[in-house]
Amino acid sequence: MSRSRKRDDAGFGRVVEFVADSVDFEPDYYNDDYLGRRVTARMRRRDADSYDAYLRELRSDSEEQAALLDALTVNVTSFFRNVEMWEALRPVLRELTSEHRRVRVWNAPCADGREPYSLSMLAHDDPDINERRLRITATDIDGAALDAAREGVYETTRTTDIGEELSPLSDPEQYVERDGDSFRVRDGIKRPISFERHDLIRDEAKSGFHLVFCRNLLIYIDTEYKRPVYDTVTGALEPGGYFVVGMTESLPRDLRGGFETVDKRRRIYRRREAGEE
Ligand SMILES: C[S@@+](CC[C@H](N)C(=O)[O-])C[C@H]1O[C@@H](n2cnc3c(N)ncnc32)[C@H](O)[C@@H]1O
Repeated sequence: MSRSRKRDDAGFGRVVEFVADSVDFEPDYYNDDYLGRRVTARMRRRDADSYDAYLRELRSDSEEQAALLDALTVNVTSFFRNVEMWEALRPVLRELTSEHRRVRVWNAPCADGREPYSLSMLAHDDPDINERRLRITATDIDGAALDAAREGVYETTRTTDIGEELSPLSDPEQYVERDGDSFRVRDGIKRPISFERHDLIRDEAKSGFHLVFCRNLLIYIDTEYKRPVYDTVTGALEPGGYFVVGMTESLPRDLRGGFETVDKRRRIYRRREAGEE
């Protein structure tokens, strides 16, 4: 359902307005399908049979506000998410680290850090990638996710199997210290990465990167804000630099002329240099 149709539902509009005013979350960035699904899931949990009934609960219960914020913040991620993309990235990293003394990578958004750590681990694991040349800037809007990322400790739970997530590596224990269900990322893997808070819609542009990841955020973002995010992340690339989006995302049509497709299915693109067809 489009933004206008869904927000025409006055009750839904009132819930969104309350979120905008009272919860530390910017609903305008996100599309209504996504917001609607998250709010409805909370309504079901609270047995609220209308948006207004749910709004009353939200107003009177700060725990429900926190639960809704948690439901709205999509920081689902994993180590080596879509493992075939990481395989396809090996030749790109081999090439970049053989050509440049410093390979600057921007990982946005990085959620709890498992994506930039996957990159650092892959670089250490592949003998033909010079991991000492990598510098990774990993950013996210969510301060709590960044704290978890800096800490770099991940637990296997009923729903998340960290050992399984790390299975693409030949010897994961070179890169994480395992204590039962707890996995602590080793210092050597952390070293090339700096974590920073950055809002891809509001904050200043960045520049000078040889590789930019922007995976699994744009699917949730409202049409109006997609373009500024694409402009920010692609504008940060050096000519000839590589760009990776999520496997269910795609480069907007009008940006495609500026990029060569390196791997269509794995969504890896390369920014054309001046004069390149
Ligand atoms: C689904 S996760 C994707 C993480 C990782 N890239 C991956 O593919 O596994 C989406 C992340 O986007 C972050 N996010 C949401 N809005 C953002 C914004 N405006 N600027 C930067 N990060 C944002 C969320 O905090 C969340 O951590």
